[in-house]
Amino acid sequence: MKIAFVGKGGSGKTTLSALFSRFVASEGFPTLAIDADINQHLGHALGVPGGSASLPPMGIEIKRIKEYLRGTNPLLTPESMIKTTPPGRGSNLIKLQEENALFKYFARDIDGVKLMAVGPFSEEDLGVSCYHSKTGSVELVLNHLKDTESEYVIVDMTAGADSFSSGLFTRFDVTILVVEPTLKSTSVYEQYSHYAKEHGVSIKAVGNKVEGDEDRRFLEKQLGMDLIAVLSTSPFVKRLDKGEILPFSKFEDTNRVTLRKIKQVIDQHTKDWRRFYQQAVEFHLKNARSWANAASGKDLTTQVDPKFDPNVLAM
Ligand SMILES: Nc1ncnc2c1ncn2[C@@H]1O[C@H](COP(=O)(O)OP(=O)(O)O)[C@@H](O)[C@H]1O
Ligand SMILES: [Mg+2]
Repeated sequence: MKIAFVGKGGSGKTTLSALFSRFVASEGFPTLAIDADINQHLGHALGVPGGSASLPPMGIEIKRIKEYLRGTNPLLTPESMIKTTPPGRGSNLIKLQEENALFKYFARDIDGVKLMAVGPFSEEDLGVSCYHSKTGSVELVLNHLKDTESEYVIVDMTAGADSFSSGLFTRFDVTILVVEPTLKSTSVYEQYSHYAKEHGVSIKAVGNKVEGDEDRRFLEKQLGMDLIAVLSTSPFVKRLDKGEILPFSKFEDTNRVTLRKIKQVIDQHTKDWRRFYQQAVEFHLKNARSWANAASGKDLTTQVDPKFDPNVLAM
């Protein structure tokens, strides 16, 4: 299952991505966490010494990713691949539990969570539709990732226009918007969900830093049925913020219930690989025609392999 945590800066995307990753990993499920937020804090939140900055940056080393994913696909060269280039026959598809050159180079394991990080990016990197889009590295990996319904891929993302300039925001089985009980936060929710739902994206909201009934009622009123769970202010998270390194077993039970609820909602989702692949192709053709053909001087619509069977993604 591919899951995105999005929301306003400071709402708790990184906190929830880390807690949810630790939760599913602690229950024994294969887990991959990807740090794609502008502030690369997921590594720290997971307790990786040196944080995400200690990992090789996927965004800067995107060429290495393209080279690997291309495999022997005769329609592609690593140079001609863009962030939306879909897999075809000969492409290397990725399984979460395999050893491959990509994980070997980019990933670190921490208490059962495999972590990868986009690495440093600046404000100018946001919203760019070009070869150098840093989050393009994540989009490429997700488009080639054959995760099953009992494996969890968690991406800590921004809610900004960056994800809308590509197909990235459609690459998830479930997108979780983290919302604080404030109007600013719920308005980000409205903007994001309005746009995302037009593309058939499944959006759920999780309230965060909720203190008492008033906060909860406010969120229920603003978000209605989309609100699936709320996390209260967590003493465990506050201790992490002060630099303590704590095992996940110390996480409070009241908030653990919230993580379990999020997992239940995700588990109700059925994967639709055909649609997943078709949308990848749709965004690729759109990118090719709107900028990438002109930028490369080539017709990148020919990168789509008409004989590729999307069912191989499900196997
Ligand atoms: N439920 C919570 N309880 C206590 N502190 C929290 C909680 N959620 C987030 N925080 C704190 O709020 C700050 C912002 O959270 P963070 O996850 O970094 O937000 P984002 O990734 O959305 O920018 C951090 O200091 C984090 O530790
Ligand atoms: Mg963050």
